[in-house]
Amino acid sequence: MDGRTLLAYVSAGGATERYAHIIADTLRSRGHAVDVIDMKRDRIPDLSSYGSVVVGTGVRMGMVYRKGKQFLRRKDLEGKRLAIFLSSGIAIKSAERSKAKFLEPLVKKYGLDPVMCDAFPGKMPGSGGKLEDTTDPEIAGLWAGELASKLSEPA
Ligand SMILES: Cc1cc2nc3c(=O)[nH]c(=O)nc-3n(C[C@H](O)[C@H](O)[C@H](O)COP(=O)(O)O)c2cc1C
Repeated sequence: MDGRTLLAYVSAGGATERYAHIIADTLRSRGHAVDVIDMKRDRIPDLSSYGSVVVGTGVRMGMVYRKGKQFLRRKDLEGKRLAIFLSSGIAIKSAERSKAKFLEPLVKKYGLDPVMCDAFPGKMPGSGGKLEDTTDPEIAGLWAGELASKLSEPA
């Protein structure tokens, strides 16, 4: 295994936060040392001690959260094993469509080469502005299991 893993997330409604903790717990259960940071609250640590970085963000009004985008633009991600996940309403119906709309353009724009990059179902605004919880913890657990194997492969 190549150093520690940093999982940095930004969430407004809580879906990305929930997924972040499921993913971190799954990676830990598979022997990875994971530090989790909430980018709205925590200082971003020096990335030099991390071999792998997982970035989680949400999207609203067609815009991936600014702190998520800013993080993906960082020059010091170069050489890291990178994985990206997104919580999105569109992904409730089609994870592929959400990935194509929100994640693939960022991956291309910032010249990234993630080992995994996927959209998960987020919370949907229902009547009266209340968020309906349509998150799927099983999807995140399976995703993290696959990621754990990829992060264990020799670079
Ligand atoms: C005001 C608002 C606007 C939203 N706009 C979009 C959108 O443009 N596309 C989309 O796929 N999901 C949209 N969603 C759903 C969010 O992506 C979903 O709530 C997701 O859980 C956000 O991540 P978070 O809970 O970690 O903040 C929107 C949700 C809200 C509340």
